[in-house]
Amino acid sequence: MRLLDADSRHTIRFQLNGKAVEGVAAPRMLATDFLREALGATGTHAGCEHGVCGACTIRLDGKAVRACLLYAVQLEGRNVQTVEGLAGHDEELSAMQTAFRKHHALQCGFCTPGILMSLSQLLEEEPGADEARIRDCLSGHICRCTGYHGIVAAALEVFEAHRRSGGESGRERTDV
Ligand code: FES
Ligand code: FES
Repeated sequence: MRLLDADSRHTIRFQLNGKAVEGVAAPRMLATDFLREALGATGTHAGCEHGVCGACTIRLDGKAVRACLLYAVQLEGRNVQTVEGLAGHDEELSAMQTAFRKHHALQCGFCTPGILMSLSQLLEEEPGADEARIRDCLSGHICRCTGYHGIVAAALEVFEAHRRSGGESGRERTDV
């Protein structure tokens, strides 16, 4: 196995929210730092930086993952979605973002981008998820402000609306 020189720099090319991007990173640069510092995608937050709090959650080829547990070089050739990719092209908030605002599901907002990314995967893969399943999904995220009530209420409203619409609501925007 060839070891990477710690002082080397690598050009990383991948899809970020549907656009081809590239940036340069050292081998040990974390994906969180790369997204924020090299690409300016500061919606992905760095909290605990060891995989516990969920603030850094992004979607990698559709799966919600902790960006703080990935190296930047692991993004090469992948399809990455961050919270910046949830709103429409006209900056219209997604249905889940709108519901978060309506239900006061955020206070400081530090945890919010990661939670939105996990809920977006859940809605796509398990649109029939009930409250227990939604709470299970949220268990991977630490929010120190809200008590989670507004977050659950927002998610329940969107999942219910999604079911009533036959799964069509928000489809064109990748997520809700
Ligand atoms: S910053 Fe990645 S899980 Fe906390
Ligand atoms: S809104 Fe402050 S940590 Fe969740």
